Amino acid sequence: MARIAIFGANGAIGNRVVSEALERGHLVTAVVRDPSTVSRTHPHLSVVPGDVLDPACVTAAADGQDVLVSAVGGRDGAGAQALLRPSVQALAAGLHALGPRAPRLIVVGGAGSLRTRDGRPLWDTPGIPDEVQRVMRAHGDALAYLREAAGELRWTSLSPAADLAPGERTGAYRTAYDELVADDDGVSRISTEDFAVALVDEIERSRHVGRRFTVGY
Ligand SMILES: NC(=O)c1ccc[n+]([C@@H]2O[C@H](COP(=O)([O-])OP(=O)(O)OC[C@H]3O[C@@H](n4cnc5c(N)ncnc54)[C@H](OP(=O)(O)O)[C@@H]3O)[C@@H](O)[C@H]2O)c1
Repeated sequence: MARIAIFGANGAIGNRVVSEALERGHLVTAVVRDPSTVSRTHPHLSVVPGDVLDPACVTAAADGQDVLVSAVGGRDGAGAQALLRPSVQALAAGLHALGPRAPRLIVVGGAGSLRTRDGRPLWDTPGIPDEVQRVMRAHGDALAYLREAAGELRWTSLSPAADLAPGERTGAYRTAYDELVADDDGVSRISTEDFAVALVDEIERSRHVGRRFTVGY
């Protein structure tokens, strides 16, 4: 049983990660800006207030945990740019304050920086709307920070497939490092449920510490 704190627990992905972790018997702390927005109750679920952009909140939320998860997202491209890299900077600062007691960090990333079959990043694919491009690039900036400046932090970034949507929990998925996972027809997809399975598997197995990986069918 792991002690897991999660920023973004109210979001589409974070909410599903909370469910998956609780179903597996882990102790979960949802860290949200407004605790009154969390309506569910569970004997293994605690809810505390916290803003991911405030390193002091990160330190408080992370203290005593085994794993800190960030599944935060902005509403649009500008929101993502203002949130994603600054949030990993704040997460790193808040965790560094705990020294050797700092838990692992797992960040939900984006698919845009993954390489497609032609070797180019997904965000270079013609026809991607500008707003989506901005979100993809913001995730790329956050990943670059983790890779270049995270120091002693034990981090993992998990990128979804190109298409992530609610669906079935199959428990089956394939992984890769920096290449988009796609099927024989070139379709890259994963359900939110199976993305959460992969994230909680990573919490339990620690297979990708210090790197990004991705999941798809
Ligand atoms: N859904 C997809 O298709 C998809 C695909 C690829 C990647 N992603 C990435 O995965 C991440 C999560 O996506 P999502 O669809 O689950 O997003 P979402 O439903 O919009 O949820 C975002 C969450 O972030 C929280 N948040 C925002 N700013 C915060 C802050 N300063 N401090 C604490 N919490 C904050 C929000 O909390 P409040 O309740 O306080 O607003 C909300 O719970 C995003 O970065 C997104 O770009 C999503």
